[in-house]
Amino acid sequence: MSRTPASKAQASRTATARSPVVKSAGAKKTLGVGIIGCGNISSIYMRNMAKFAGLRLAACADMRAEAAQSQGEQYGVAAMSIDDLLASKDVDIVVNLTTPNAHFPVSMAALKAGKHVFGEKPITVEAKHAATLVKEATARGLKIGCAPDTFLGAGGRLARQIIDEGRIGKVLSGTCFLMSHGMEHWHPDPTFFFKPGGGPILDMGPYYLAALVNLLGPVKSVQACASSGFRQRIVTAKGPMQGKAIKVETPTSVQAIAQFANGASIVFVMSWDVWKHGHPPIELYGTDGSLRVPDPNFFGGVVEYTEKGGDWVSVDSADRIYGKPNWRSPNWAPSMPDRANYRCLGIAEMARAIQSGAPHRASGALASHVLDAMHAILQAGETGETVKVKSKIERPAALSETDAAALWVG
Ligand SMILES: NC(=O)c1ccc[n+]([C@@H]2O[C@H](COP(=O)([O-])OP(=O)(O)OC[C@H]3O[C@@H](n4cnc5c(N)ncnc54)[C@H](O)[C@@H]3O)[C@@H](O)[C@H]2O)c1
Repeated sequence: MSRTPASKAQASRTATARSPVVKSAGAKKTLGVGIIGCGNISSIYMRNMAKFAGLRLAACADMRAEAAQSQGEQYGVAAMSIDDLLASKDVDIVVNLTTPNAHFPVSMAALKAGKHVFGEKPITVEAKHAATLVKEATARGLKIGCAPDTFLGAGGRLARQIIDEGRIGKVLSGTCFLMSHGMEHWHPDPTFFFKPGGGPILDMGPYYLAALVNLLGPVKSVQACASSGFRQRIVTAKGPMQGKAIKVETPTSVQAIAQFANGASIVFVMSWDVWKHGHPPIELYGTDGSLRVPDPNFFGGVVEYTEKGGDWVSVDSADRIYGKPNWRSPNWAPSMPDRANYRCLGIAEMARAIQSGAPHRASGALASHVLDAMHAILQAGETGETVKVKSKIERPAALSETDAAALWVG
């Protein structure tokens, strides 16, 4: 991984933290970021923000003022009301880390306040709301971006390079598996995961579909079966919900086949009803070889490929920028290895694109297409019909190692 020397990185970080937003044309600008939603995921964003070029954490807010206050104190950032954050001249980009049902109103309010927006996944719950946000941002000359940005990490870039160099030839088919036994053992309030707008497709599907669309291009149509293995889930995670039952109101197991516009058919399985399994996250089968893509929930991992029927060749992305393991979940067993978690990369890449006027990669349009595909899967699971995905997008441009490294101050 290319690294900035410690003293230079320190100087650069200090300059980034202190420099005001410069409005003059052509000047290098550090963009102020205001986070709305100070829950579980906000900590990694607040911790990582200063490590990325061009970003300065300016403010945070939450409908629970005490949550904003507590995160503000911990990370040394001003806690504000939502209205004050949206009115603040220090905030250029609003990062929306609220729960999915609040993504649309919060992102729309931010766009209407003249702010660029980057949100957590899924971009919205309803597909029509995502399209409305993308349209609104375009009309206002603002950018909207959305997680996941993991495909810009070292593992995602390496897999993209192997595909683009034609090493496995034309991708014909593949498999994609996310299977576990749910969220109630780790999230203090997992209610939203089991309600409409949650479920493994809308919650975890974005990582896998964004990774696949980045590699293969847009999804054309889908078929699926859907079910719920358990009528209720008992929360075992520590916190006020521990011991309480949550009624399951959305499918928790979905087996789909996604047909991509480039002709590839991918078996796509997401379930929270499975205790254990042995499938790799993503395998792609091409005319000249096979490719194993690392878990798209993280930024690094080992990429494996073959030349036709030869042995697997393993390449660890840990030596590339955004590939080095740097994080572990407090909920993991000691046997779980650390993983690469460079959240904020997509925001930094969007900030760079705001400066240059270029398209950004973890875009609202990509997230909106992924959401369309996920709703098509849910509809196919309900009706048993083949469902077309109406929206079409181009693959985002590959992120070069040089451009990726330029976003990091460390
Ligand atoms: N927790 C994770 O590990 C994780 C990982 C990846 C992505 N995400 C995504 O991040 C988002 C947030 O997840 P979380 O786990 O942090 O949830 P959370 O429930 O822990 O936190 C959400 C926060 O948003 C606030 N909020 C809700 N509606 C709001 C509104 N209208 N205005 C202002 N604040 C509001 C809540 O008060 C809460 O503090 C979700 O979209 C989720 O899919 C979470």
